[in-house]
Amino acid sequence: MMNAIAFLGNSTMRPSKCLLRAFTRLSPSRDTAFQSHHSRCINQNINNQDPYRITKLRNVVQFCTNRPSSVTTQVASEARNLSASRTCTKDPTLDKIIAKNGLNVKPLTVERLEEDEKDEEVVNGDVRNIDKDGLENVRRKEIEEEAWRLLRQSVVTYCDSPVGTMAANDPTDTAPLNYDQVFVRDFVPSALAFLMKGEGEIVRNFLLYTLQLQSWEKTVDCYSPGQGLMPASFKVRTSPLEEDKFEEVLDPDFGESAIGRVAPVDSGLWWIILLRAYGKITGDYSLQERVDVQTGIKMIANLCLADGFDMFPTLLVTDGSCMIDRRMGIHGHPLEIQALFYSALRSSREMITINDSSKNLVRTINNRLSAISFHIRENYWVDKGKINEIYRYKTEEYSTDATNKFNIYPDQVSPWLMDWIPESHRCGFLVGNLQPAHMDFRFFTLGNLWSIISSLGTPRQNQAILNLIEEKWDDLIGHMPLKICFPALESSEWHIITGSDPKNTPWSYHNGGSWPTLLWQFTLACMKMGRPELAEKAVTLAEKRLQADRWPEYYDTRYGKFIGKKSRLYQTWTIAGFLTAKQLLQNPEMASSLFWEEDLELLETCVCVLTKSGRKSCSRAAAKSQILI
Ligand code: GLC
Repeated sequence: MMNAIAFLGNSTMRPSKCLLRAFTRLSPSRDTAFQSHHSRCINQNINNQDPYRITKLRNVVQFCTNRPSSVTTQVASEARNLSASRTCTKDPTLDKIIAKNGLNVKPLTVERLEEDEKDEEVVNGDVRNIDKDGLENVRRKEIEEEAWRLLRQSVVTYCDSPVGTMAANDPTDTAPLNYDQVFVRDFVPSALAFLMKGEGEIVRNFLLYTLQLQSWEKTVDCYSPGQGLMPASFKVRTSPLEEDKFEEVLDPDFGESAIGRVAPVDSGLWWIILLRAYGKITGDYSLQERVDVQTGIKMIANLCLADGFDMFPTLLVTDGSCMIDRRMGIHGHPLEIQALFYSALRSSREMITINDSSKNLVRTINNRLSAISFHIRENYWVDKGKINEIYRYKTEEYSTDATNKFNIYPDQVSPWLMDWIPESHRCGFLVGNLQPAHMDFRFFTLGNLWSIISSLGTPRQNQAILNLIEEKWDDLIGHMPLKICFPALESSEWHIITGSDPKNTPWSYHNGGSWPTLLWQFTLACMKMGRPELAEKAVTLAEKRLQADRWPEYYDTRYGKFIGKKSRLYQTWTIAGFLTAKQLLQNPEMASSLFWEEDLELLETCVCVLTKSGRKSCSRAAAKSQILI
């Protein structure tokens, strides 16, 4: 019974004139899978006699067989019995029933600014910058106001409740493809902008509705997603019923319609990161304590932590499984996924309530966290000294104490890298990917920024990444912050690695294009490292062009001079990323609740993985020394 009402009880969702007909997650228990990958509501305009009824229907359609399992049949019939009809109004007792006793709830006191005070602060901020770049206060305010207006216009509703923002909202675009959908990763900056403005409802709804869409059945052989996967995006479809009724259906895309059928590995990770941010900024920890939400976290964590054939603690994924959702040679262990994985595990560790049934998972998470950070710090890090070391590597070493553990051939150190890497040991970065005989030396911005934000890198490494960005400002920031990766793949590399992708030509789109949405993540990283002035410089640069250029998705050319050739306009995460960056700069305490400091306990868990000579017992002293890498 509790299971079945878990979804009903979630509601700050407004009562709506709709019937919620199908449920995807009636049970928080993993062995009672009850799944359909869409949720429905029907709007009844007629006479409004009983417009608030909710009916639960069994909606398990197994993709290939059409045969529900016996478990699902049983759950389904229970659901039918329970569901007869139910008023779609908020029942405050239901939230209580499903909330568990939180043990690790850390209420955060964030001083909220009144609207007027915020405006005042913005004005003050403007005054401070006016001389520097010649933009008038009024102009800045206008730009920000337009950004807010556009962000609000992109809001998508389901059953009259706001549930997300569409990826792009260009009224002149006649072929929006899937840009009219709510993408999980794209919604994160929108969510933060709303949260920091004190508007939590849309974020709460988003978190709960996407939870309903989470995949519950593993049917890989039928091209369906694995258990626990979160969709890349969802769409609210409206279809007419008889007479003047119509229904709304939440329709997720797990990659089965996506171009290239890419798996959205990052979606679940972003979902967990956002769930933590929601608690931190609103102080409402009851959401993350709910049984169904706890189950959602655990399912994502279990999916990511499952054993496979892999030898590394990092997550093994296919190409295009993150923001770069096209073939770009980032299959294997790309940094972006590892940094988000690490951040999501750190978030989960804070949110999972420890009890008998969760303690093993928490232990596994702790072990994995320390193993990932050692692996990345030790093996992904490059600076001039390390590159010189790789350049002189011996190869084909067969032993547990090999120096060149991954058998990287020195010829992989390409001329661009030798020219590009600064002389100073104060500059360095984490490489894009690492696997047997393969080190991808490209600089991937999102992964490096999230390594700073989550403290995946050591304090020194994190500073060195920002030093590198400052030193290589023209290459990585140029005319528009920030390059998604550097350098671009050109000629035969472009042919072979992208498969001659016409969208990913050199210095365009994912292949070295410049993405303004990365601005908020850069800002967070700069604030964490005590260098907000770097972020301010980048925000000011973006501010000069974004509105005039109609908020493009990305920019092209080596220095980000042109609006991208296939770039969407009025791209929501460009708008939201800009707003979020500004809000973070204005609210340092909120910013500080979104990043993580070094965790010494994690470093103490196990340092075996770091030793060059294979296995060695863990030691506190050895762990401490790693902080100084
Ligand atoms: C493109 C981007 C992806 C983004 C989507 C919606 O596919 O590569 O990262 O989520 O557009 O904006």
